[in-house]
Amino acid sequence: MADRPKILVTQKVPDPAYPLLEAIGDVEANMEEGMIWPYEELLRRGPGHDYIYCLLTDNIDAHFLEVCAASTPRLKMVANMAVGYNNIDVETATRLGIAVSNTPGVLSDTTADLAFALLMATARRIPEAERYLRGGKYTGWGPLLFCGAEVHGSTLGLIGAGRIGKIVAKRASGFEMKVIYYDVYHLSPEEEAEYTVTYLPMEDVLQQADIVSVHTPYMPSTHHLISTRELKMMKSTAILINTARGPIVDEKALVKALQAGTIAGAGLDVFENEPAVEPELLTMENVVLLPHIASASLKTRTLMATMASDNIVAHYHGQYPPNIVNPEVL
Ligand code: DGY
Repeated sequence: MADRPKILVTQKVPDPAYPLLEAIGDVEANMEEGMIWPYEELLRRGPGHDYIYCLLTDNIDAHFLEVCAASTPRLKMVANMAVGYNNIDVETATRLGIAVSNTPGVLSDTTADLAFALLMATARRIPEAERYLRGGKYTGWGPLLFCGAEVHGSTLGLIGAGRIGKIVAKRASGFEMKVIYYDVYHLSPEEEAEYTVTYLPMEDVLQQADIVSVHTPYMPSTHHLISTRELKMMKSTAILINTARGPIVDEKALVKALQAGTIAGAGLDVFENEPAVEPELLTMENVVLLPHIASASLKTRTLMATMASDNIVAHYHGQYPPNIVNPEVL
């Protein structure tokens, strides 16, 4: 690339990401913290860049990619600062020869920590109890006050046992939980022994688990993987935790299941139509709701931010971007 490449950073990200990009190119960046450009703004700004550094809240769809591929300079790569890349039409990017990268690995432990925190908070009714106390309702210890579900010794069902699911299993071993999992990919016997997990068909996981935690990527085959039928298979005392992607769980079906007592509670860090949340969920005490913060430690977000920059820098130098998701374009 003869000229310095033009790089667009769509949102304010941790500072160490910028010097890496500025060392190789001219950077245009949205520096307003918390500002997510609406699609039209993204479409106006995207064309004319060699590289786009984006976030999971940016809709990098076929139209956007086609417009950017037809511009001068032509878009060469989209670097997502997230492990999930369902916000990017990878098929179209691949067809247009545009590389796509993500940030796997560096957020797995932090995300697993949050999944476990959400599990604990939901099972032991921590936010509800805190609201009660702050609301001035606490008049003294009570034998039945905020009795929740047992966590230690219970059965954890993982739907998805990839990087994050496996670490959640490790966390669960400290709580002497029995861990069963369903995944389209069976772990090897060695991995099953290492993480002390047992494979079961999805129906069995749903039927046997006291707590079900979702850790699959979002793709057409996992859309509404957990819906009315699956919720009905769960124990009426069970809790559902989702820190993966919102649309894996049918949110309307979940509301109905919670209202009907089909399951006992839910802990959600992700939503079907983020940032919107089904209004009924906001009124339910047996639901813990978080604003998609599973990977939100400063250390992890900084690692993710620099990893996204490193992918762009590698591509610029003609090297293989370490986290390319569509290597066939190279
Ligand atoms: C991701 O990276 O995909 C998470 O949802 C946010 O860290």
